[in-house]
Amino acid sequence: MLFISISMASPSSSSLCFAPLVFLLLIIGCTARPLYPLPSHGDRESRRPLQTFRPYNIAHRGSNGEIPEETAAAYLRAIEEGADFIETDILSSKDGVLICFHDVTLDDTTDVAQHKEFANRKRTYQVQGVNVTGFFTVDFTLNELKSLRVKQRYSFRDQQFNGKHQIITFEEYISIALKAPRVVGIYPEIKNPVLINQHVKWSDGEIFEDKFVETLQKYGYKGSYLSKDWLKQPAFIQSFAPTSLVHISNQTDLPKIFLIDDITIPTQDTNQSYWEITSDRYFDYIAQYVVGIGPWKDTVVPVVNNYMQTPTDLVARAHAHNLQVHPYTYRNENNFLHFNFNQDPYQEYDYWINKIGVDGLFTDFTGSLHRFQECTSSSNHQSGSDDEKTASKLLHKIALLVSSYKG
Ligand SMILES: *[C@@H]1O[C@H](CO)[C@@H](O)[C@H](O)[C@H]1NC(C)=O
Ligand SMILES: *[C@@H]1O[C@H](CO)[C@@H](O)[C@H](O)[C@H]1NC(C)=O
Ligand SMILES: *[C@@H]1O[C@H](CO)[C@@H](O)[C@H](O)[C@H]1NC(C)=O
Repeated sequence: MLFISISMASPSSSSLCFAPLVFLLLIIGCTARPLYPLPSHGDRESRRPLQTFRPYNIAHRGSNGEIPEETAAAYLRAIEEGADFIETDILSSKDGVLICFHDVTLDDTTDVAQHKEFANRKRTYQVQGVNVTGFFTVDFTLNELKSLRVKQRYSFRDQQFNGKHQIITFEEYISIALKAPRVVGIYPEIKNPVLINQHVKWSDGEIFEDKFVETLQKYGYKGSYLSKDWLKQPAFIQSFAPTSLVHISNQTDLPKIFLIDDITIPTQDTNQSYWEITSDRYFDYIAQYVVGIGPWKDTVVPVVNNYMQTPTDLVARAHAHNLQVHPYTYRNENNFLHFNFNQDPYQEYDYWINKIGVDGLFTDFTGSLHRFQECTSSSNHQSGSDDEKTASKLLHKIALLVSSYKG
């Protein structure tokens, strides 16, 4: 275990503080076991654990700032770049297969428009009180969805991967996390449950939320926040729909995050206002079945003319109710950065992590957040006590070795 934790420490940021440890390890290494363990691909037991000492780096739709969102490639990139969690949105195909896709329609992020065979699939459905027209995932079978290719949402991002990647299923997404070379958590959303349950019926009478939880259980996801089972396969379940979270609260003890939209948008299922669902009374209630909230960041710190104003008390009140706060979405580009940050995404991370004190961040650029955290809060800072514990264990071990020579 010692060897693994040392080898995983970032060389640039922590080599100094680890120097004495490395020296100690050399001594132990000579007497006890090989200094350099073989790579541990596939050895699930010895994978580097999830870090839990600093805010979570949540790769929003994978590294979608670089690669088209919610594709296998975007998730693999996010894992390479240091994500603690890979985030996704779960919707359903017409034939009831759960897929990773953000929009209820395929129009903006796939090549569906070029598929003449689907030209007659365009529909208009009411989605959260608004009539939306497009090609809805719920009108396509999984096989049909697999014939499409995903593209980048924003024109100012890298377009070279357009047309190269398929939509993936919830199960494929889970297998990406489980095969990662270290423990990487998943963070799936029960997306648009009202619409999905209106349009997709499962033959066994179960609903979307049931299928969602069953999929997690099938792959061994279970356990409350920070439990042994959870640390092995970490997962947060997120939803904007209060009734979905209540519905699953008795089906799984996995930690749940209640997402909170803009102040103008009522909840899709219970039609509650922003003010109602962010009241102390409501926090008292949800604290019984969720571990945190996921607010849009501009509601935590209101923005006027692209300048951030005085922060609200939302984070302080959530923390007072023992609720974590995981705001969304952090994006590097000038188009998204508020002017206060001088077009510097590191300043934005610094503000939210060190001034506002959030517990996790949904970012489109996992690599940037990871580098920022390695520079400012890598293990040589916040886990100092852990290092000390490790060092004192080593000293103890050395003392034992020395005394065994004497004996
Ligand atoms: C949506 O379309 C339906 C049918 O055309 C219409 O009756 C309804 O008023 C529309 N709703 C909204 C919110 O525009
Ligand atoms: C969940 O379980 C609790 C306690 O066992 C019970 O009070 C509650 O009614 C249940 N909720 C649902 C939605 O079944
Ligand atoms: C939701 O609540 C608002 C404000 O109370 C109300 O005006 C609206 O009619 C409600 N909508 C539905 C669908 O119940």
